[in-house]
Amino acid sequence: MKVALVTGANKGIGLETARQLAQHQIHVLLGARDAVSGQAAAAALHAQGLAVTFIQLDISQEADIAAATAHIQQTYGRLDILVNNAAVFLDGEWYGNNVETVPPQVLRDTFDINYFGTVALTQALLPLLKASEAGRIVNVSSISGSLGIHLDTAHWFYQMKPYAYSASKTALNQFTIFLAQALQNTAVKVNATNPGWVQTAIGSDQAPLTPAEGARSSVALALLPADGPSGTFTEAGETLPW
Ligand SMILES: NC(=O)c1ccc[n+]([C@@H]2O[C@H](COP(=O)([O-])OP(=O)(O)OC[C@H]3O[C@@H](n4cnc5c(N)ncnc54)[C@H](OP(=O)(O)O)[C@@H]3O)[C@@H](O)[C@H]2O)c1
Repeated sequence: MKVALVTGANKGIGLETARQLAQHQIHVLLGARDAVSGQAAAAALHAQGLAVTFIQLDISQEADIAAATAHIQQTYGRLDILVNNAAVFLDGEWYGNNVETVPPQVLRDTFDINYFGTVALTQALLPLLKASEAGRIVNVSSISGSLGIHLDTAHWFYQMKPYAYSASKTALNQFTIFLAQALQNTAVKVNATNPGWVQTAIGSDQAPLTPAEGARSSVALALLPADGPSGTFTEAGETLPW
């Protein structure tokens, strides 16, 4: 049975990603920083007959990363799928451009999770992903991280420039490219995705997509076959500008 870790999986797109991967007969480690909601989410999926186990994981905490890595090493000896889904949106407003005023602490707190935490966790788990026959890393990014879209005055997203969140996702996109290139002679594939605009705490209840629909891009990239791509940025299979 393949083993997957999904971060930030106690709710939203992460929870649905965990559910859908488990429905593919994959053992899913449901990562959450909050033990109460994480255990409740794992228990709900387990009650549906799915192989899901809660794992305590605040991706901004080195001790949590070390403990999760040691647990996966000792229990499974490898990791087949890592879905870097956890993130925060701390800018407050989606509309407008706050680059002149966004507090440095908001930038730091956003980067601590969306970028530094994601990179540190991925680096820690790389030996276990390389130990898999077909390691897959999915970085859940955003069109907000796309430089191309922020330069395209005709794009519907052009008016939305929350700087901290957007910059953290741009950095994550670059991590995706560099890591895919570093791993090109291995069996590990690394891809970034935009889930679409999804009904979650980050996406708001105005969004058109359900969390289950938003999880589909992550799940498809997590299940890529051996001849699938690496180093891409897509939404539902469509290429996005970096
Ligand atoms: N919804 C959209 O329209 C949309 C669009 C583009 C991209 N995305 C991306 O999709 C991903 C999932 O977001 P979502 O929309 O499902 O929002 P969400 O419901 O707010 O989920 C975010 C998840 O990340 C977790 N998280 C935050 N900081 C964490 C940390 N330090 N360690 C571990 N987990 C942490 C949250 O845990 P808590 O419950 O403890 O806060 C929560 O489980 C994010 O990467 C987001 O940027 C979403």
